Amino acid sequence: MAAMRLIATAAFGLEAVVKREIEELGLETLSVENGKVTFEGGYPELVKANLWLRTADRVLLEMGSFPATTFDELFEGVRALPWEEWIHENGIFPVEGKSVKSTLFSVSDCQRICKKAVAARLGKVYGQEWLEETESLYRIQVSLLKDIATLTIDTSGVGLHKRGYRDYNAIAPLKETLAAAMVKLSYWDKDRPLVDPFCGSGTILIEAALVGMNMAPGLTREFAFETWSNFPKDIYQQMRDEAVDATDWDAKLNIVGSDRDLNALKLAERHIERAGVEDQVKLVHADFKKMPFNDDYGVIICNPPYGERMGELEEVETMYRDMGDLFRTLPTWSKYVITSHRGFERLARQQADRKRKLYNGRIQCNYYQYYGPRPPKGEKHE
Ligand SMILES: C[S@@+](CC[C@H](N)C(=O)[O-])C[C@H]1O[C@@H](n2cnc3c(N)ncnc32)[C@H](O)[C@@H]1O
Repeated sequence: MAAMRLIATAAFGLEAVVKREIEELGLETLSVENGKVTFEGGYPELVKANLWLRTADRVLLEMGSFPATTFDELFEGVRALPWEEWIHENGIFPVEGKSVKSTLFSVSDCQRICKKAVAARLGKVYGQEWLEETESLYRIQVSLLKDIATLTIDTSGVGLHKRGYRDYNAIAPLKETLAAAMVKLSYWDKDRPLVDPFCGSGTILIEAALVGMNMAPGLTREFAFETWSNFPKDIYQQMRDEAVDATDWDAKLNIVGSDRDLNALKLAERHIERAGVEDQVKLVHADFKKMPFNDDYGVIICNPPYGERMGELEEVETMYRDMGDLFRTLPTWSKYVITSHRGFERLARQQADRKRKLYNGRIQCNYYQYYGPRPPKGEKHE
């Protein structure tokens, strides 16, 4: 099979992190645009990206791209694509859509036209007037941008943030992909202590443990392509086996989470066990001001409350002042804080070395990065 064009979709602000991850996997990126990174590969690369990408939302297979300003052009362009190479005769193929700055702006009409065109193509190839659509899901997306239609099939299924360990939600949990990006954007490595003093349901701790153990985030979940009858199962099995072998099951990580809310900690404990990282993560019930920091050259990565809920602002502003005081007692530590509160640096009385705009869901945040000194070479800091 010729090389495919694959697209890793990403939250705004995370494209560069996703690109770096793709390149770290040894894959070649072709382009980076708003919310998507395009790369090239075959079946193994498609599987690898789904299994290993920590910060991408989904992996899409690009079927084709062509100009379309009329419904006829859209229909003919879609019908000309080789859908039968992927979708078998009973495949279920819903069509979703979006249109930005394009003549064809009615998304529902575009979806209907594309559905008809794919059905016409498959009906002809399979010699059927009516396609039953009974098994295996192939979610098609038609995306119009400045009169160029791009057609994709979603290979992931549910979003890649669903690793499989989270079954209940705490208040304001971070999406797993964002938590992983916060870890990837930090200078933490597996030989350094990591503390999240506002750990809630444990997302940052778990994502860090998965990074530290080199465990593929997709190892405990399923993907849409697994149900596709013409997808080579042996390739998937081989890549999974390789991912299991690559995991450092005996890693000795020093990851600690604390929170003042016992219920949040219970949830964190549950998720940590479900993720299989219980030997790597310790939990402490404490207010962040009482958390003992005994180590040197550690890394704090946290997502404290933002003060957006009614009546919370004053308490949160006092908390940010106290965080600044805590940070000053830890000169060898690096600190990373995500919040939507624009006054964090002022309240903490410390200017960040770097600020990065990130979105927590729809909330625009800054990721404040305070760099500590590098640990002396060759020492493990516990
Ligand atoms: C936004 S949530 C963190 C969510 C977490 N990142 C997750 O993915 O589940 C903020 C957490 O800070 C905790 N918290 C608030 N004030 C605290 C304090 N003074 N000391 C310790 N934890 C605190 C809350 O109980 C809550 O769990």
